[in-house]
Amino acid sequence: MHRRLLAPGVLAASLLLAIPASAANFGPGAPGIGDPYYPASGNGGYDVSHYDLRLKYQPRTDLLEGTATILATTEQNLSRFNLDFGLGVSEVRVNGKKAKFSKEGDQELVVTPAVPLEKGRALSVVVRYAGKPSELKVGGYTAWHRTPDGGVAAQEPDSAVWWFPSNDHPLDKATYDVSVSVPDGTQAISNGVLQSQSSKLGWTRYNWRSNKPQASYLTTLAVGRFDITTDRTADGLPVFNAYSKDLGDHAGAARASIERTAEVAEYLTEVFGPYPFNALGGYVPNVTSGYALETQTRPFYSPRQFANGANISVVVHEMAHQWYGDSVAVKGWKDIWINEGFARYSQWLWSEKEGEGTAQELADYVYGTRAADDPFWTVAPGDPGPDNQFHVAVYDRGALAVQALRNEVGDEDFFKILKGWPATFAHGNASVGDFVKYAEKVSGKPLAELFDTWLYEPSKPDAPTAAESRI
Ligand code: ARG
Ligand code: ZN
Repeated sequence: MHRRLLAPGVLAASLLLAIPASAANFGPGAPGIGDPYYPASGNGGYDVSHYDLRLKYQPRTDLLEGTATILATTEQNLSRFNLDFGLGVSEVRVNGKKAKFSKEGDQELVVTPAVPLEKGRALSVVVRYAGKPSELKVGGYTAWHRTPDGGVAAQEPDSAVWWFPSNDHPLDKATYDVSVSVPDGTQAISNGVLQSQSSKLGWTRYNWRSNKPQASYLTTLAVGRFDITTDRTADGLPVFNAYSKDLGDHAGAARASIERTAEVAEYLTEVFGPYPFNALGGYVPNVTSGYALETQTRPFYSPRQFANGANISVVVHEMAHQWYGDSVAVKGWKDIWINEGFARYSQWLWSEKEGEGTAQELADYVYGTRAADDPFWTVAPGDPGPDNQFHVAVYDRGALAVQALRNEVGDEDFFKILKGWPATFAHGNASVGDFVKYAEKVSGKPLAELFDTWLYEPSKPDAPTAAESRI
């Protein structure tokens, strides 16, 4: 059609004649959710409410196979839509009917349903798949940890494309049932509550349920041979911890840390308000990388976190994320300061409580170790860029920003903010801008300049000195 030859009204009329009215305004869902840091992350056009993953994993070969059933609601008229996924797909069904599908690049699965989908309707998608996650590379990189006895999915900002199809962005949280069958003698660990486990034909199936909204990157799977401890908190919540049988001389230190998770949660509840989930714990697989991750209800810890003995501080950090990061998740990845600045600051609060140095003393120490010409000061925690998302400045300068806030508004309002924020945005998403507005509302003080100095200025600010000593 030669658009330019026709007046707009004529064009519209001719379109109506040429295309049945019902199909006229159906288009493809966007291949990304609109996060400038990671344009391919997430997708447009639908909102997921629940994932049901029924999987089987063989540690010997690293073969993961199974079926994902995804329940969603359409948010626009869709001719097709994307899921984020990297393994091999053999069949896709949409609302019960076989759909066409194709892979685009390493991590986009394009699904074209037999019948276009109307906006505002319930959508069910069934994806059958199989593959070896360790063989999947996205941009040359794999987030899947293969271990001598299994495999682990735990990485930020994303790990899901290595093991299940999803709308892979924190903006689209959902509940999960994760059911995984593994050879007898091996465990499968995920988020939430272990509903049941049973064995037949040499395979044991573990059924996990996470019943509060959960971001895809916080959804974890670990398969391996573990020692398990279970208990209940004083409030009756189930505690489930797992330690690889292969931790060598780190085993004692790992247990001496993670067995204190309930105690840490109790302390953080005093500071941040009610624990947001219905289960807790931690797990330590025999991975070689060094980090930890706040996987929802059950953080992932590298054995290396326990190289020098017990490390309660990392447990405090990952458990603080349950409020700051998991229940209240970022709107976009540029908002990472809300996760890491507050998780680091909570380590300082724990130190203060333990008499190992107050938050102010630790802030002064960190500030003092960074000379004005240290490139540390050029990273803006409020918008660090994708390459610096986990730069130490996001953590340390991020926590300095929190100390600066505390000094500006005083302890009474500061702790009101720390507790009010997770209550106000529970199980949702929020941005740095939302935090600044919230802190201004609670304190009644203008704070834009303070946050500009601490979160955005590319240079070393004046010290975040305690209010009393500034007079
Ligand atoms: N949120 C995690 C933590 O601070 C960071 C994980 C970053 N990933 C990494 N490969 N360094 O606990
Ligand atoms: Zn963190």
